[in-house]
Amino acid sequence: MGLNIGIIGFGGMAHWHANNASKIEGVKFVCAYDVDPKQMESAKEMGIRPCATLEELLGAEDINFVLVATPNQVHKELVIKALRAGKHVMTEKPATLSVADWDEMVAESEKAGKILTVHQNRRWDADYRTMREAVESGVLGKVYSIESRVFGTVGGMYGWRAFKAYGGGMVLDWGVHLFDQLMFMFPDKKVVDVKAELMSLLEANKEVDDYFKVMLKLEGGPVLQVEVGSYAFRALPRWYVIGDNGTMEIMDFAMEEGGITRPRFGAEGNVAPVVVQTPAGPTRMMAPRPPETREELPLTKSDATWTTLYKNLVDVVDNGAELIVEPKGVRRVLRLMELVFESAEKGHSIACEL
Ligand SMILES: NC(=O)c1ccc[n+]([C@@H]2O[C@H](COP(=O)([O-])OP(=O)(O)OC[C@H]3O[C@@H](n4cnc5c(N)ncnc54)[C@H](O)[C@@H]3O)[C@@H](O)[C@H]2O)c1
Repeated sequence: MGLNIGIIGFGGMAHWHANNASKIEGVKFVCAYDVDPKQMESAKEMGIRPCATLEELLGAEDINFVLVATPNQVHKELVIKALRAGKHVMTEKPATLSVADWDEMVAESEKAGKILTVHQNRRWDADYRTMREAVESGVLGKVYSIESRVFGTVGGMYGWRAFKAYGGGMVLDWGVHLFDQLMFMFPDKKVVDVKAELMSLLEANKEVDDYFKVMLKLEGGPVLQVEVGSYAFRALPRWYVIGDNGTMEIMDFAMEEGGITRPRFGAEGNVAPVVVQTPAGPTRMMAPRPPETREELPLTKSDATWTTLYKNLVDVVDNGAELIVEPKGVRRVLRLMELVFESAEKGHSIACEL
């Protein structure tokens, strides 16, 4: 049977789904509803049946699955309506704006006996998987710090993303992806401390964050840092990881630059305790390491792809496979974002057990 999908909200992201996920076996986009008639014209041109009302879409007998791709503040209401109409549902990220909302949505899905999931497509980003596979392989030794960073240069938040009432802001837009990646990587390690700084640098109305820096302490390590800014003109690595046997850098999503540097020990690898002079004084600890005592390794690039998420959904619907983006993990990320907002508002770190 596969997924016969009705889309609610046929904007930018819905077009992406319809153009790309339709190539996956078992995935068909059947109909769409959007409050904007222009988007309905666009759906028609793409061979997707436009529905005149939400009720028409929810009542369509030729769909078994609803994708909600509207702005964030209406995800909850639309997800619940779709579940009550007897459809499986995937909503765009962030799933909704609070844990309390999510709990209601999950209760509805359990009552209906239908799938509820979230489009956390960046769990399959190749840069993330490359970092994760390296950490898990042990090539860096014991890892004690992971930094995840995304910088843009346009500045500010665009359209509805600039307004709190729509669930705007960078934490809810990009933060949700980057926190989800790290929580998915460490499902069994408790987050014990959250410290967040949120800024509204270029927002005319100053309602939402367009820059944030968050530090998360995991029980037993590593310490995680997530930083996102819409207005930073010099690149820092997308991933920067330090272990006790090496350091890894992945510069960008495309992974065109990056690698691992490890210490080399043994006869020619031991570091002589040399002292170097800097203009302001001597230093031994920060002396550059001689090249013969370093080992350079290229990135072992992952070939992960977002299509795995859709293939998993087909497998869940057709064969009862286990859902990868399951409600418990989604709840953890929503709770983490609540703690991020709380820490930023209070101006100090928040101890937790998450
Ligand atoms: N997973 C990803 O990589 C990714 C990327 C971009 C956006 N998104 C998410 O997708 C969602 C949509 O973002 P977008 O960039 O496509 O926004 P968008 O503004 O381009 O599209 C939203 C569409 O929803 C319609 N809409 C608004 N309220 C509606 C309602 N009540 N009923 C029906 N239609 C309604 C609008 O008319 C618009 O066409 C957001 O939740 C966003 O966070 C996810």
